[in-house]
Amino acid sequence: MSRLVVVSNRVAVPGENRAGGLAVALQAALSERGGVWFGWSGKTVRGNSGEVHEQEADGIRYVTMDLNRPDLDAYYNGFANRTLWPLLHFRLDLVDYDRATREGYRRVNAMFADRLAPLLRDDDTVWVHDYHLIPLAALLRERGVGARIGFYLHVPVPSADLLMAVPDHQRLFSPLYSYDLLGFQTQRDNDRFQSYVRLYGGGKIIGPGLLEAPGGRRFRTGAFPISIDTPQIARQAAAASAKPAVRSLRTSLEDRLLAIGVDRLDYSKGLPERFHGFERYLQRHPDQKGTLTYLQIAPLSRADVSEYRTLRSQLEQIAGHINGAHAAPNWTPLRYVNRNFPHATLTGFYRTARVGLVTPLRDGMNLVAKEYVASQDPENPGVLVLSLLAGAAQELKEALLVNPHDLDGVADAIATAATMPLARRKERWHAMMEHLLKHDIHAWRKEYLAVLEST
Ligand code: G6P
Repeated sequence: MSRLVVVSNRVAVPGENRAGGLAVALQAALSERGGVWFGWSGKTVRGNSGEVHEQEADGIRYVTMDLNRPDLDAYYNGFANRTLWPLLHFRLDLVDYDRATREGYRRVNAMFADRLAPLLRDDDTVWVHDYHLIPLAALLRERGVGARIGFYLHVPVPSADLLMAVPDHQRLFSPLYSYDLLGFQTQRDNDRFQSYVRLYGGGKIIGPGLLEAPGGRRFRTGAFPISIDTPQIARQAAAASAKPAVRSLRTSLEDRLLAIGVDRLDYSKGLPERFHGFERYLQRHPDQKGTLTYLQIAPLSRADVSEYRTLRSQLEQIAGHINGAHAAPNWTPLRYVNRNFPHATLTGFYRTARVGLVTPLRDGMNLVAKEYVASQDPENPGVLVLSLLAGAAQELKEALLVNPHDLDGVADAIATAATMPLARRKERWHAMMEHLLKHDIHAWRKEYLAVLEST
């Protein structure tokens, strides 16, 4: 088996507790095959970008590179998170396009390629992750790298007409043609990418999942829905019930049910809509008022980007309004918390919650939805309320599927979930759990790497 080299903007260096699903997914692959994980060090330095650090743990070599403030602002805060992130989440209205940040994005990718190319051997399998690194394969090829290189996009692909609305879109997206395999979360993302290539990208579809770039180079694309370590999360959640943080949450509920949401504070997650949907639930179902408490955990994210700061104040305002209007002296309907919790504690919280609220406006997959299901007590499972616009909805069909823009629909789904009889809860949960046990994170990476390595 060839050596695996993973490249991503964030690197989960040992000893750090990163919340993202990306970290969990990749460590499993690397510790099995040994290899290198390369990316940004997470540090902003004075002086020049480009200094490289190395450490080793569990057979994995972690190589990370520092960035200075101007580079980070252009590449990460700027082009990745103010241009690509909104674009890929169908939010053309939030796209901020600037030639200077775009140049910074390319410059940092080139710096990554300069540091990474000398570490690579031609028989390596290189696996590049996410929208921060679209040009990387092309830049590595320019530096003589002959290894197989795959790309996996963790976020959605919007329709072709949105992709082509970005200035100079061909220059931006055609470097993707230098990869050997492009992996997407769902078949729909894969189809939308293919239609972009055909309509505006100058390429051709030659067969199922086989594409040809303008110069004749061939590459593959496919859908590989990311997942979780299902049995491990189930075990973790069962054990977490005894943790002090989980017990004190349970005690604090008194006899009330819990609804839970856990999301990075990001506009793609539909949090204002969810808060409004919860208020609508209180209004439409007055008989249930006081029987359920909603806990929203929303760790701050990308606070250097102004849209995220605006969202934060908006949510503070809505949360204050809901509690002011609906609380009783002995009950707070919405508990809104910006801090993060250890992953194991979260699984204990999921297991405590009768209702899991996952209602993004757009999401590549959404692993919280899958983790919520895996964390449930088989004897008394909760109900997942899931947005139709999350990739996970393509698989978790037995959730209560909602359109996050339809506040009445969200309100009624919360009410249905909170009163669903045990037998129906079990039935729905079993079907989803069975799917997640079969399609777990290990199946995901094996399938992806098998296709990449057969190209
Ligand atoms: C999403 C992206 C990841 C990213 C994560 C956290 O899941 O797909 O690439 O790492 O959000 O965002 P951050 O900007 O903090 O890395």
